[in-house]
Amino acid sequence: MSDPAKPVHSLSESLLRWYGEHKRPLPWRKNKDPYKVWLSEIILQQTRIDQGRPYFERFAAKYPDVHSLANADEVEVLNLWQGLGYYSRARNLHHTAKFVSGKLGGNFPHTQKDLRKLKGIGEYTSAAIASICFSEAVPVVDGNVMRVISRIYLIPDALNDTAQKAKIYKHAVNLLDRSNPGDFNQAIMELGSLICKPFKPECEICPVSSFCGAYKHQKTTEYPKPKIKLVKKERSLFFLIPVFNNGCSLLTRRNTSDIWKGLYTFPLLDKEKHKERLQRKLAEKACPIETISIKHILSHQIILADFLRFQIKDRGEFCDLWNYATGEMVNIVKEDAISSTKDLLSMEEKSNIFEIEFDELFLKYPLPRLISKYLEKRPLEKI
Ligand code: ADE
Repeated sequence: MSDPAKPVHSLSESLLRWYGEHKRPLPWRKNKDPYKVWLSEIILQQTRIDQGRPYFERFAAKYPDVHSLANADEVEVLNLWQGLGYYSRARNLHHTAKFVSGKLGGNFPHTQKDLRKLKGIGEYTSAAIASICFSEAVPVVDGNVMRVISRIYLIPDALNDTAQKAKIYKHAVNLLDRSNPGDFNQAIMELGSLICKPFKPECEICPVSSFCGAYKHQKTTEYPKPKIKLVKKERSLFFLIPVFNNGCSLLTRRNTSDIWKGLYTFPLLDKEKHKERLQRKLAEKACPIETISIKHILSHQIILADFLRFQIKDRGEFCDLWNYATGEMVNIVKEDAISSTKDLLSMEEKSNIFEIEFDELFLKYPLPRLISKYLEKRPLEKI
């Protein structure tokens, strides 16, 4: 921390002094444990500090060190992550814990270059760990830092423009306090979340307003420039939720290498014509059916999901229906034959659709946000 008795000469000094006085007492700031810093940074890529903190606390209580996380069951880790979205981050977290525990004796690398070699650790996270835990003089550039720098230096391009990122990075390198890079990086992020906020920046109490171009020209609302909008692809999906006379339904574990890998969903059709055939057959059989549509917006695509819930006799009837709609055979396993997650994973090699008690859904299985949204809208009881 800078000496409060010294006069403030530079932006960096002013920022560090403010941070020393105003930083939040966050649990991962108690010491410089790289495991805790890494865990917090991965969680904070998904959400703001207020929302991320309880997740951090739950993870740190259950897995207090990298070895305990490494030895955890993947399904448990995914379950604890539930609500944060982008489960690939949780899978990478688990993978890297196993690597650091098993291959590096539990010791994280000390440099940004070596940290970056670990799965799920990119430029941002490696810079955060290297600077906070090992005092390497590398800048951290996240969304908060981009906003602060684009206001201070009146950067004219949109935030997701690559030229803009390069300019911001150069400024971040110049500003960095090399004798205290960890605190400096956290200070600029903290300023972005507490003072230099996106919509109502609190310039009157900002420790660096005298250095800020946007404040000087009264243009804080014009910076940063709005992002260039990406055109998102639309994708239609049709989830099938059969409700059998015995009160059970079906679930499937996704083993495709997409954003839902390792999570559980209802069986899924992705062809409109298969859905139409299925609906026609259900109408012929006079089965009660209910459709709920949900639009789910992700960073690169928009999913238009129809959830078809229908009452039928049993899984045999479902297999016939599936075969009729898609022309493919399906093999369903009964869930009471499965006693552990390991069985679940090996079972999935043979068939990845299995029968479950309807009300167990929330308890045991990590679900994509889209499925939880549906279950919030349409709770679990028979139609
Ligand atoms: N946002 C993400 N990581 C942060 C940190 N270490 N300090 C402040 N804000 C953050």
